[in-house]
Amino acid sequence: MRHAGLAIARVRLWLLGAVFLVTACGGGEPAEAEDDKDDAPAPPAAATGFDPATITPALIALGDSVFRGLAGMGTCMSCHGEDATGPTGVAPNLRDAEWLHSDGSWEGIFKTVQGGVMAPKKHSSVMLPMGGTNLAPEHLRAVTAYVYSLSHKVGQ
Ligand code: HEC
Repeated sequence: MRHAGLAIARVRLWLLGAVFLVTACGGGEPAEAEDDKDDAPAPPAAATGFDPATITPALIALGDSVFRGLAGMGTCMSCHGEDATGPTGVAPNLRDAEWLHSDGSWEGIFKTVQGGVMAPKKHSSVMLPMGGTNLAPEHLRAVTAYVYSLSHKVGQ
């Protein structure tokens, strides 16, 4: 009897696994139609994560550490300088209102940091994507929030 019970328990476990697999694969539902993609309104900023209202002091503090190489192996400070004003002459000031590669929005800064700058406008060296390291998504987001906070009022 004990053996039979064990066998049933095994089958149950197996079934559970099968159900899980089907759910994880989306249960074979048809893929979403993509034909009206162009007409779709842009998703709200909060949904894309580029809503400045979602920038918290903790996120900025983490980004500060990434910028300085204290978290996530950020390399930013070595080129943009300790205070991010570009005193090294290698990289631009990130505190002023002049933006060479985007409109200075959070989304614009994010894209520049993520993709780097292969065609610098006022400097001779390039900036590799993410400053030449592989930043984790939360560190990329944090350092973007930090840079954004240097020239924009956030959280007040
Ligand atoms: C090897 C040096 C170097 C490193 C490291 C580096 N940058 Fe840059 N960065 C540059 C250069 C060069 C430019 C473009 C300057 C130009 O166009 O004249 C730039 C541009 C930028 C811009 C765009 C500024 C604008 O005016 O549009 C941002 C934002 C930025 N860097 C942030 C970062 C962050 C954040 C990091 C760290 C993850 C980082 N950089 C690491 C050299 C560097």
